[in-house]
Amino acid sequence: MSKRVVTLAHYYTTPEIQGMADKVGDSLELSLFARDAQADIIVFAGVRFMAETAKILNPQAEVILPDAGSTCSLVTQTDVNALRAWRERHTDYVHVSYINSSAEHKALSDWIVTSRNVDDIIAHLYAEGKKVIFSPDRNMGAYLNYQYGYDMPLWSAVCEVHDKFNEAALQAAFAEVEGPYSLIAHPESPLPVLKQAHYVGSTSGMLNWVKAYQGAVTAPIFVATEDGILFNMSQARPDLDLRQAPIYAGCQCNSCPYMKMNTIEAVRRAQAGEGTRIDYLSPEQMDAARLPIERMLEFSQRYYA
Ligand code: 13P
Ligand code: SF4
Repeated sequence: MSKRVVTLAHYYTTPEIQGMADKVGDSLELSLFARDAQADIIVFAGVRFMAETAKILNPQAEVILPDAGSTCSLVTQTDVNALRAWRERHTDYVHVSYINSSAEHKALSDWIVTSRNVDDIIAHLYAEGKKVIFSPDRNMGAYLNYQYGYDMPLWSAVCEVHDKFNEAALQAAFAEVEGPYSLIAHPESPLPVLKQAHYVGSTSGMLNWVKAYQGAVTAPIFVATEDGILFNMSQARPDLDLRQAPIYAGCQCNSCPYMKMNTIEAVRRAQAGEGTRIDYLSPEQMDAARLPIERMLEFSQRYYA
């Protein structure tokens, strides 16, 4: 009997890769889809922490990452032993971690969040009178502290793609526009950029914002996130003037090298059962990492159902 293969692709992959997928989405949507997939093989055209999350949520399936090099700077900048020591210095805190983290990192966390639900989960914890530490994304944590007046101690890693967005370059781009404009941004961007934004949210959140946009179609919309999703946005609203936010004056370009390792050949090979199998996590490691992820999924289902 032939194997059931399900292919998932993140919005940051190229249009061709998205076209090869059964489901395209943000981290939360892809995690839920992976958990519920009736599949023998899940090909994850994303990055390693996403494929690991899929394996943790659907351990029966064989999960394949098309290219072994598809990591994420938020993972590689976080030394798990140093993180453990940091966690031990904050024993009376709830440890909230962004899903862009290794399985070992997740196992040291009380809650996992994605950019879609981070605001609501942390608000919920503060409403219960808890104190929170946040890892690994320093920019996202700084934004939450600024936006809601929290004083969360932060781990200090960044997304090497979003961290390049630059306030001065943005101001220069805004100055060239006559009339109104908007900026939408992913919360992995630096705080001075996020402070200028009309909307801050996940990849799906930004896409939905663009779909629902009611302003003047001639007013430019600057998008501070990875370039892949510009394709989805311009498909949804070809009438709009969508521009990638600059990373330095005149340069509208910012691409995640790890997401772009998902080439057509690599995804085809993975669909044929070749590639990096996520088979190195022990049942104990997966159980420990699953707990904080399931807490998030349960919260999401309760609040966003
Ligand atoms: P989303 O959860 O918003 O899709 O973000 C994932 C990611 O890696 C952003 O850089
Ligand atoms: Fe990681 Fe940044 Fe690439 Fe997202 S865009 S996978 S956070 S390096």
